[in-house]
Amino acid sequence: VRNLINTTDLTADDITQILDTARSMEEINHRTIKKVPALRGRTIVNLFLEASTRTRSSFEIAEKRLSADSLNVQGSSSSVSKGECLEDTIKTLDSYGIDMFVCRARNAGTAERITQYTDARVINAGDGKHAHPTQALLDLYTMREHFGKLEGLKVAIVGDLLHSRVVGSLAPALRTMGAKVTLVGPPTFQLPEPEVFGAEETYDFDSVIEDADVVYMLRVQLERMEGATIPSKREYNRLWGLNAERHARMKEGALVMHPGPMNRGMEIDSIPADAQNSFVTRQVAAGLYTRMAEMYLLLGGEENAAD
Ligand code: CP
Repeated sequence: VRNLINTTDLTADDITQILDTARSMEEINHRTIKKVPALRGRTIVNLFLEASTRTRSSFEIAEKRLSADSLNVQGSSSSVSKGECLEDTIKTLDSYGIDMFVCRARNAGTAERITQYTDARVINAGDGKHAHPTQALLDLYTMREHFGKLEGLKVAIVGDLLHSRVVGSLAPALRTMGAKVTLVGPPTFQLPEPEVFGAEETYDFDSVIEDADVVYMLRVQLERMEGATIPSKREYNRLWGLNAERHARMKEGALVMHPGPMNRGMEIDSIPADAQNSFVTRQVAAGLYTRMAEMYLLLGGEENAAD
């Protein structure tokens, strides 16, 4: 693929290649000198038009480890805040001979639109409620490293399905890799067409908790409710939260995952969030390796490495 807009564009072979390359990147990361010249001379713009801690920091570190030159542009401190449109912003930056744009945006479809204004490669770092492919790939990496495979895994994705961009990338990617996905959420937060993702959907968390290999909790996207009734924290936690009682019922060897940032006390309590089987911080580390792999592969890193 030319750009990484969503995991629905990737075959099982594409995903396997990214995960295998990420494994090599993790090995590099364990060396004393972590930096490699793979993307020397390449220029990458990190265009973050919406807040981010994990995604932005991991892309910035990944670019440094790959020796790329990078430029960080944020919505709040750029001419976007003066009303400059996306097309003008991209064409302005593209004048410098940019090789790749990494974009986080509030609106669904922004990354796809950027591909119309530039010949540079584009990575979608999360666009509105639509997709978050680099999150899905780091999640797959985390699961594959732990279980040794993805095929046949039973993954419960739980919570605010309707406003989540993670589910739009993770559920199809898991399906592509042969995992079985169950979507769990309040009736008001369910997806209208779960079958699009090849997934079953239920509102009964307790009916799936004991059987899942991975209990993947979604953040309640309070900033994307757009007038919908926001559930009370206590009520949400009682019915759909991963609390200590539900955590104790998870099967042996099952993992707790969450893309972050977490609403502690709402979709997840501190006991499961900080438990031995919580892989939340491992997910963050995996984000560095998988994002290194994605940039390396999209920018023809193998060609460079052979130099
Ligand atoms: N998971 C995730 O995308 O986190 P950030 O919003 O902090 O990047």
